[in-house]
Amino acid sequence: MKKLNTKKIMAGIASVAMLCTVVSGVNTTTPKVVNAADDVLFATGFEDGKGTEKFSKRGDTDTSVITISDEVSYSGSSSMCVSERSESWNGPQFKLDDDYEAGVEYLVSAYVKTEWYSTINLSMQYTDEAGDPHYSNIKSVQGDGWAAFEDIKVSFTSDMKDVYIYFEASDANTKIYVDDFEFKQAPVIPIEQDIPSLSNVYSPYFKIGTAICASNLSSPSYMDLVEKHFSKSMTFGNELKPESVLNKNACLAYVEETGDDTNPQVTLSAARGLLNYCRDNNIPVRGHTLVWHSQTPDWFFKENYADDGDWVSKDKMIERMENYIKNVMEIIEKEYPTVNFYAWDVVNEAWMEDGKPRAAGAYSKGDGSSAWVQIFGDNSFIEYAFQFARKYAPEGCKLYYNDYNEYMDQKMNAIYNMALELKEKGLIDGIGMQAHLDVGFPTAQMFEAAVAKYASTGLDVQITELDITTSDKSEAGLKKQAQLYSDVMDAAVKYADSVSAVVIWGVTDDTSWRADRIPLIFDENFKAKPAFYSMIDGLDIPDEPDTTTPTVTTPPTDTPQNPSKNPYGDLNTDGTADLTDLTILSLYLLKDKSLTDELVTYADVNADGSVNLADLAHFKQYICQDDVVLGPVK
Ligand code: GLA
Repeated sequence: MKKLNTKKIMAGIASVAMLCTVVSGVNTTTPKVVNAADDVLFATGFEDGKGTEKFSKRGDTDTSVITISDEVSYSGSSSMCVSERSESWNGPQFKLDDDYEAGVEYLVSAYVKTEWYSTINLSMQYTDEAGDPHYSNIKSVQGDGWAAFEDIKVSFTSDMKDVYIYFEASDANTKIYVDDFEFKQAPVIPIEQDIPSLSNVYSPYFKIGTAICASNLSSPSYMDLVEKHFSKSMTFGNELKPESVLNKNACLAYVEETGDDTNPQVTLSAARGLLNYCRDNNIPVRGHTLVWHSQTPDWFFKENYADDGDWVSKDKMIERMENYIKNVMEIIEKEYPTVNFYAWDVVNEAWMEDGKPRAAGAYSKGDGSSAWVQIFGDNSFIEYAFQFARKYAPEGCKLYYNDYNEYMDQKMNAIYNMALELKEKGLIDGIGMQAHLDVGFPTAQMFEAAVAKYASTGLDVQITELDITTSDKSEAGLKKQAQLYSDVMDAAVKYADSVSAVVIWGVTDDTSWRADRIPLIFDENFKAKPAFYSMIDGLDIPDEPDTTTPTVTTPPTDTPQNPSKNPYGDLNTDGTADLTDLTILSLYLLKDKSLTDELVTYADVNADGSVNLADLAHFKQYICQDDVVLGPVK
């Protein structure tokens, strides 16, 4: 049906370009980026003895000393030097939540060097509502030259406290040098509004969804794409995995209080931002994931939850598993009764490519071994997981087994046989095909054969984590990628009676877990790639529903106005209309932020009586050009 038609794709691109002209009023073929050059919030080249005042070492036990050095520099004659480190995590940290706003996307740039070959990490640390610290790696660079960290996106949410970004080096003994550090607000890039919504195009067949992480909520453009194309199904990238949901302090406190170590305590603190978003926007959620060898801490499997405790018995682990699943379902029902969890991945990735269970081991070993197999001796834990999920999941919620390389013969047979057994017992509803593919492998035929095989079980099939990598980033590479996307969608459409959803694992290339091989259908400028056009090529394009937001009533006449200041666009009422206000407007349009009636009036910056995307475009022009006025022209 959809053999890739380059002519159509080029026509699509041209019409999008025309649309951009209309939306942004700028004669370019790409959306105009709001220039954030004036919005640098902190920058230093560590010259003249200055610049280190915003950096500190990472707590009392960090032995390092921060100075300015003229030994080496990326530019100018000096840099910040962090010496006397004694642990790999020692390094300079930069605090975010004192001076910067939650829910706003920022860009950090710096050049960082170690004395000799080492891995340099840019990471983030924060403390959650329960007081637990969290650490996450943002970007790693290996080498001994100046590692470039350029325009790296960072953001945090209001429930995160003591939020720092920091540099660390895998070698504990090397000094770390940092130069040309810059921190600025991310530009807001308008998305292409006039391309069809992927969800709408596929609505006759199945749901189209995506996976997002809490940090994506801070990017208005990213969320615009989610709203337009992927609002039928949402998977949380990490926030509902056992390591995010298990609350170790509460588990230990529960043991202390009751002597019972079979009732794991859980929290939704990591997932709250995403749950709020899905609740407020009515987006159905695919719960991901309950039982997995990965991203599940070892202590969950140990006596008294002690890191160095003995493995618990199989009987105790069955109790823990039941209580974990029960507690997860209950806390969601209690805190988010209106969020529609229409699916759960009950077990993730239990079968190997040779059709056998994983090796016994632990997540901390980092070798793919499984603590579940360590305790059960085999894959018999799978059936318990489905029994408990069936017992506690909300009515109507479908239960899936989910795996990758799901098209490889022996693995496919193992999944198929397991699925039939579970189906016989009424425990499973569907099979999740992760579909992390590459342009070189598998072939479209192999993938389609796997869809057919899983569909033949009579169970539901979902493509749950689709992404297709390409190392060749030329036009030819993108075309190949587009072809495989098209073929995968063809297979899904062919088996649409069995396939209920296709979920793409992320939205823009730069935020993908496989970013270096640009696997997604939107690029880092939020622009649809050839893969997007190949997915809709040959399908009926429905009329787009009206996406405008509430109409503004007549401007209040009784509002006292300072004649010297124009209130239009000044949505944080700080006396100026700038990028921060533009972000607020985007969040308002995304329904992520509410405004008072008065501010809604002033959000109507093109004074046409309603607040919608045209106001965003007008605001952008105002920021980029001298001759644009916000609000009614006098
Ligand atoms: C697997 C998991 C996902 C995610 C990806 C990598 O496919 O199921 O949750 O961790 O790996 O991002």
